[in-house]
Amino acid sequence: MNLSEMLHDGAIPQIGIGPGGLGYTAKYSKKSKLVKLGLRVYNKLIGRKLLENNYINAVCNALQMGYRLIDYSSAYGSGELIGRAVKKSGIPREELFITTRVSNKAQRNHQVREEFLTSLHNMGLEYVDLLQFHWPVTGLYLDTWREMEKLKEAGLVKHLGVANCHQHHLEEIFRICKYRPEVGQFEIHPLFTQKPLIQYYKEQDIVVEAYTPIARYDDRLVRLPLLKRLEKKYNKTFVQIILRWHVQCGVIPLVRSLSYNHQKENFDIFDFELDEEDMKAIDGININSRLRYDPDNCDFSIL
Ligand SMILES: NC(=O)c1ccc[n+]([C@@H]2O[C@H](COP(=O)([O-])OP(=O)(O)OC[C@H]3O[C@@H](n4cnc5c(N)ncnc54)[C@H](OP(=O)(O)O)[C@@H]3O)[C@@H](O)[C@H]2O)c1
Repeated sequence: MNLSEMLHDGAIPQIGIGPGGLGYTAKYSKKSKLVKLGLRVYNKLIGRKLLENNYINAVCNALQMGYRLIDYSSAYGSGELIGRAVKKSGIPREELFITTRVSNKAQRNHQVREEFLTSLHNMGLEYVDLLQFHWPVTGLYLDTWREMEKLKEAGLVKHLGVANCHQHHLEEIFRICKYRPEVGQFEIHPLFTQKPLIQYYKEQDIVVEAYTPIARYDDRLVRLPLLKRLEKKYNKTFVQIILRWHVQCGVIPLVRSLSYNHQKENFDIFDFELDEEDMKAIDGININSRLRYDPDNCDFSIL
């Protein structure tokens, strides 16, 4: 069974948690030398530890409340914490669907394999369910794909996928690949619905994941009368309405939250169904507003 069939069969999760990186410790700029020193000591001794514990507990809680898909990238640098959270959760490894991605830095430095093995080691895993590249770095991503295929052949990766690919990137991969991508991840939310690209991925039998699925709680959605009306109609929050819209579009939303209450709210979307008219109304919010970067026009070195 390929991944697309598995999604329809319910064998891969319909929603994922993307905890992202650890976050930021207190910044030093524009402070006196003494304050900077104090902050540095605080970050090293206390601040970082607090952030780490909070992160591990948040991922562990998410798993214990039912999330099974963890979306991670080596670019986030928190693999060890993910590994500790998985262990702490007590959920058997085979019940989880864990993704990692090749960072742009590893692509530039031709260290795809080395970085992957480090991530695997840090997470304490023997394999990942899905390996993607983070961005199709110009001039490099086809070589990256070939390296990823070797990792699959070595049994360290179950499925291969891409992130941030337009149609033309995929066509290039199809031209050289031994194994076709099975999953593609890109920015999708009601302000940027990406219908043609989703359609293309589906025609190619590639499962679609949405990143930034609630548009980072963008004010333009928070204030939208349509979503306020749907909140009342379905007795759900507008975030739940949006996540449900993704699921009914056949897309897997990867939502970031380290908050217990938000994680719970975001997972509670499987007991209602948006009707066709409301699905269309949400589609109609689209204003092609991209919040992240366009892979055809961005500086890969800062991503
Ligand atoms: N491949 C790529 O290039 C790429 C790029 C971006 C993102 N991603 C993936 O996608 C994941 C999510 O994307 P994202 O972080 O950009 O955007 P997002 O999930 O749309 O938004 C995350 C923000 O929404 C808040 N939030 C979550 N649930 C909420 C709720 N129920 N009510 C109110 N606020 C809520 C979170 O805060 P709290 O923590 O307070 O809940 C956080 O500030 C990432 O973590 C990553 O795994 C991939």
